[in-house]
Amino acid sequence: MTNDTQAPATTDGFHLVIEALKLNGIDTVYGLPGIPITDLSRKMQAEGMRFIAFRHEQNAGNAAAAAGFLTQKPGICLTVSAPGFLNGLTALTNATTNCFPMILISGSSEREIVDLQQGDYEEMDQLAIAKPLCKAAFRVLHAEDIGVGIARAIRAAVSGRPGGVYLDFPAKLFGQVMDAAAGQRSLIKVVDAAPRQIPAPDAVQRALDVLKGAKRPLILLGKGAAYAQADDAIRTFVESSGIPYLPMSMAKGLLPDTHAQSAAATRSYVLAEADVVVLVGARLNWLLSHGKGKTWGGANAANRKFIQIDISPTEADSNVPIAAPLVGDIGSCVAALVAGMGPNWARPPAEWTGAIAERKDKNLSKMAETLAKDPSPMSFHSALRVIRDVVKANPEAIVVNEGANTLDFARSIVDMYLPRKRLDVGTWGIMGIGMGFSVAAAVTTGKQVIAIEGDSAFGFSGMEVETICRYKLPVCVIVFNNNGVYKGTDVNPRGGDMAPTQFVKAARYDKLMEAFGGVGVNATTSAELDRALKEAVASGRPTLINAVIDESAGTESGRITSLNPQTAAKK
Ligand code: COA
Ligand code: ADP
Repeated sequence: MTNDTQAPATTDGFHLVIEALKLNGIDTVYGLPGIPITDLSRKMQAEGMRFIAFRHEQNAGNAAAAAGFLTQKPGICLTVSAPGFLNGLTALTNATTNCFPMILISGSSEREIVDLQQGDYEEMDQLAIAKPLCKAAFRVLHAEDIGVGIARAIRAAVSGRPGGVYLDFPAKLFGQVMDAAAGQRSLIKVVDAAPRQIPAPDAVQRALDVLKGAKRPLILLGKGAAYAQADDAIRTFVESSGIPYLPMSMAKGLLPDTHAQSAAATRSYVLAEADVVVLVGARLNWLLSHGKGKTWGGANAANRKFIQIDISPTEADSNVPIAAPLVGDIGSCVAALVAGMGPNWARPPAEWTGAIAERKDKNLSKMAETLAKDPSPMSFHSALRVIRDVVKANPEAIVVNEGANTLDFARSIVDMYLPRKRLDVGTWGIMGIGMGFSVAAAVTTGKQVIAIEGDSAFGFSGMEVETICRYKLPVCVIVFNNNGVYKGTDVNPRGGDMAPTQFVKAARYDKLMEAFGGVGVNATTSAELDRALKEAVASGRPTLINAVIDESAGTESGRITSLNPQTAAKK
């Protein structure tokens, strides 16, 4: 008897979804089972896929987004209909904003009932709602179209500027039966999902001409540069040009933060003074003060020229004029610049690099002085010094970071040494990515994860410590506990309820991890934090360290206090 005669004569929607994903190298799904996708999650596992089940869809969605960023394959999040879909939608939209490839697949109610608004179980026109919030959205009504639907979703997620895609699967689709051989033929293995995009030679020449004239050049590396996995080309560009560079937060580690050309420790100076700035996968959005104003030297701005490397042709001129847009994939664009620079490229004037070095040394010494202090209770700095040293000794570890002060201090204090080892709140400054990103980082890389969490930020996804314990992931969460949002010292002027920014004092977040069999440690000194973190990294066991921080430490909104509207009187 041949295999053919043994093969089932029919297949169904469940199996076609699974086979289409597997055919395209997707072996892990993040989600939360329930009507109508419970059986799909079971069958995925039975067919050899990894199904990482979460406690809330937003965290599963964040995990899928981070997996997309780390692997360049779309991360898949699977949810139930209406409420589950909406819970996943924030993550999908955040992924799109961050240019991370992700596919949110949600089960949905029956079209006939939804469209007539007859009140189906979890009735909602999910496709219409998702459409304006992501890069592309598709619905599949027939089993024979599953292959096309998944292929289109993959292409939309990873090609060009990556982003989030919504895929709507009405419940009835899963049970639809069709001829097995025809089903097999309907599946598509996507060929060259994210084609290289070679920059036009005249655009390369224009960029080189602008760069050649620079007296104070600066390279700005963004998370697009980290995503592109063009690490060697970027390093060669930076080192062979000799141009100082500034990494945006998720580009930290593309070159080690200790690199002689890093200007991170004198950020304000280089942004205000640079005369030519090469943006590599970084947008001139709020994080870069829109490329203008005081941050960019006020009057100096008029003489500054930007070269922008980006895969999206419409990104140029979004905020200020771009003298030399270079449209293409970062690897190809940077390689073309290096080739065009040739071996005799003049390095930037010593006046510029010397002025940067001087300021940088001064700032690093000032920081070293602050970090040498060991106050009781711990400050943000003394706790972060411990983490900085452990990360230095374990450069493969992935740092996940969210909060306000916890985020902003960690960004400058914790040096990164390797690409794509830092995941954080990204373009939106979103809170709640912590545990989702941590799970995905551990699942996709198998490496140790160190999540540096503000106590408020942790609350958004804290229940996922159960997920971390259930899958026995090497995640160490450090909660910077200063009793509140920003800090714990606010008071309600009328008495009664606590102030809106306050939390229960002296809370023990470590007990949460213990509840699920992980290790919980209450660290009140830097020595205790050091011991607990080293033990966590050595054992790889799920650990939560409640790091007790001075409740008066921290400022409102960290480094972005100025974004808070103020009353006229306060102004
Ligand atoms: N040693 C000494 N100083 C250092 C340093 C180091 N290793 N690394 C950085 N610094 C300095 C910088 O030079 C800068 O000082 P300067 O302005 O005097 O030059 C300062 O420390 C802060 O640096 P950095 O954190 O890189 O810049 P910034 O905070 O001014 O950057 C943003 C602005 C907007 C990019 C940044 O604040 C950000 O990414 N914020 C995200 C905030 C967010 O999303 N929050 C969530 C909601 S609350
Ligand atoms: P950051 O916040 O770190 O400054 P952004 O998210 O603002 O970074 O910018 C990332 C940019 O990188 C986006 O404009 C996106 O289009 C671009 N990008 C993403 N992947 C690639 C790639 N492979 N090649 C070129 N550009 C890319």
